[in-house]
Amino acid sequence: MPRFLSARPDARLITLPWETPLEAWPLDNLVALPRGISRHVVRFIKVGQDIYAAKEVVEHLARHEYELLRDLNRLDTPSVEPVGVVTERFAPDGTPLDPILLTRHLQFSLPYRSLFNRGVRLDTVNRLVDAMVVLLARLHLVGFLWGDVSLSNTLFRRDAGSFAAYLVDAETGELHDELSDGQREHDLSIARTNLFGEFLDVEAGGLLDEALDPQTLVESIENRYRELWAELTEVEEFDGSEMHRIESRVRRLNALGFDVAELDITTDFAGSTVRIQPKVVDAGHHTRRLLRLTGLDVEENQARRLLNDLDYFRAQTDQQNADEAIVAHQWLQQRFEPVIDQVPSDLRGKLEPAQFYHEVLEHRWFESERAGREIPMIEAAKSYVRTVLRNLPDEQVEVPGRAELAELANPYDPSQGYADEEDEEKPYDPWEDDDLGPDAGVSAAPDFLDIEALRQKARKHS
Ligand SMILES: Nc1ncnc2c1ncn2[C@@H]1O[C@H](COP(=O)(O)OP(=O)(O)OP(=O)(O)O)[C@@H](O)[C@H]1O
Ligand SMILES: [Mg+2]
Repeated sequence: MPRFLSARPDARLITLPWETPLEAWPLDNLVALPRGISRHVVRFIKVGQDIYAAKEVVEHLARHEYELLRDLNRLDTPSVEPVGVVTERFAPDGTPLDPILLTRHLQFSLPYRSLFNRGVRLDTVNRLVDAMVVLLARLHLVGFLWGDVSLSNTLFRRDAGSFAAYLVDAETGELHDELSDGQREHDLSIARTNLFGEFLDVEAGGLLDEALDPQTLVESIENRYRELWAELTEVEEFDGSEMHRIESRVRRLNALGFDVAELDITTDFAGSTVRIQPKVVDAGHHTRRLLRLTGLDVEENQARRLLNDLDYFRAQTDQQNADEAIVAHQWLQQRFEPVIDQVPSDLRGKLEPAQFYHEVLEHRWFESERAGREIPMIEAAKSYVRTVLRNLPDEQVEVPGRAELAELANPYDPSQGYADEEDEEKPYDPWEDDDLGPDAGVSAAPDFLDIEALRQKARKHS
């Protein structure tokens, strides 16, 4: 009898033909799905409605990869989900067989070879490269040294207009508390070598847009990675009166698909230094977290904004180490409710409380940028009621499903509202700049995250 190592075993797996080498498994148990090249035998197994990827591999590697994938999943890093390791497999004649590592098949994922199959255009390649760069930065942020960065060890999923990249092969990985610059450089140099080879292959197959050259592509990956890393980790210094500038940074990070889970604030004689430590989180994560902490059940983007605000509150009240649930309760009483109380009873029907709070946060951000100082929430709430809420015609009242009907002003940052909203002139926000904003993809906007250009613009305007 084989042994199953699994945190959540699936009983239906037990009856599969483990005594047969994976290569010779009956077709009844398998499904044909696109797959990347691999040294090991990899097959997709169908069990009821579920599909698993099975990889036959020596025991210590199978266990190592299983443990690492579990850690990566626990850390909310985009990677395939481990299901278990099947060991002690023997053929009927007693020959020992290598263990099998099982992962959940990542639905709708495509290996890069399938993406390149029919030849891809320049902008698609740029999006793939962006996704790859974001994945590498996410892994490095949690201290994961990949060791075998390559397109074949990455899966891509379409994500609205762009791609999201997932790690599929963790065999060579190591998890550390934090990576040194040298370790990150090591991964980058492996990425250069592997990706260069992979792009050459694609080019040799006539599948690469002629305007693209493997060497330039590899260099652009490196540059974009360095820019993204700086945006994610550089310490910015603010003085106490410019707290709203933190929000600009948070917005840029949100637009890149990162979320700021913690604000680390250190004060010195000259003022205060605000250090932002971004943490990457999953879709739906904010709704769940806010519900757990406050009982407020709101949409993901609202939840994200409210949680960011909760984090500011925590930092402002110097409670970095206090129990999260207690801080959340204080935030509800001292921040959230007083703001909601600013809505006169005759206007209560116009907006849901969470949406109102969210709008006030937006309003305050614009007003603070305009005024060049931090506007208190209550003042912003009063001003919002007076200038916006009161004039909101009934048909503008938030209705469910509006997000599906209207086009977002900036698809990378839903908190910026909808394209058709006739807003008064807004203060400068580099993400919204016409010739650069990600929503301006139809014009001359580059199809990648040109962070340096963005920063230069932000500097010019500040
Ligand atoms: N959970 C999964 N979901 C979807 N596809 C998967 C999954 N696991 C593996 N694959 C596919 O199988 C391919 C091979 O898997 P993997 O890279 O783990 O094998 P490998 O033999 O270790 O590779 P290498 O040659 O890099 O060592 C992947 O490129 C991917 O296309
Ligand atoms: Mg691989």
